[in-house]
Amino acid sequence: MLNIAVFVSGRGSNLRAIYEKVPKSKVVISAVVSDKKDCKAIEFAKEKNIPVYFVSSKEKEDFISYFKLIDELKRLNVDLIVLAGFLKKIPDEFVDAFENKIINIHPALLPSFGGKGMYGIYVHQAVFNSSAKVSGATVHFVDKIYDNGKIIAQRAVDIEDVKSPEEIAERVLKIEHELLPYVVEKFADNKIKIENNRVLILE
Ligand code: GRF
Repeated sequence: MLNIAVFVSGRGSNLRAIYEKVPKSKVVISAVVSDKKDCKAIEFAKEKNIPVYFVSSKEKEDFISYFKLIDELKRLNVDLIVLAGFLKKIPDEFVDAFENKIINIHPALLPSFGGKGMYGIYVHQAVFNSSAKVSGATVHFVDKIYDNGKIIAQRAVDIEDVKSPEEIAERVLKIEHELLPYVVEKFADNKIKIENNRVLILE
């Protein structure tokens, strides 16, 4: 059984996709972590009785520090941390504490259209402005640089006929909801390996 923590900041549709699509016999979500107290993702976690934690760079009422969060997630024996729409940069110490155990979903085909400030509609606006004919979603390992870690899986979508960035967002989100549960399940099945400096997904 893979024990995961999912980090969120907003709508939580990817959290929901993991919850609904990955068999409960393979994965348990033992924590949902957020930098925002009121968001749909937190509502969803509470509805499903998943323990929630609020994290902040400065400890304050109801928010714990990243240092405390490391201890807490280790205490819960979390195997994998999934960033699913988490908007804050993860501190280096946190990345060190969970080396090769943090993954993120990005709503474009990395290594293009990533980096600081490239989140939400800004990504899709940049893709739209570039006139690219395909976009997609990328799941990658998290290292200390924004959107830079090794790519685990990608799916592309045709956007040749789109009329707006919002339309790209809609097409990409559909793919995200397939790709992220697929990758999490592969981790649960122990089918993700790093060989020759490349990430492999075994059948
Ligand atoms: C997704 O597009 C994800 O790729 C990005 O943030 C968005 C989160 O959406 N990192 P949701 O909160 O999962 O609905």
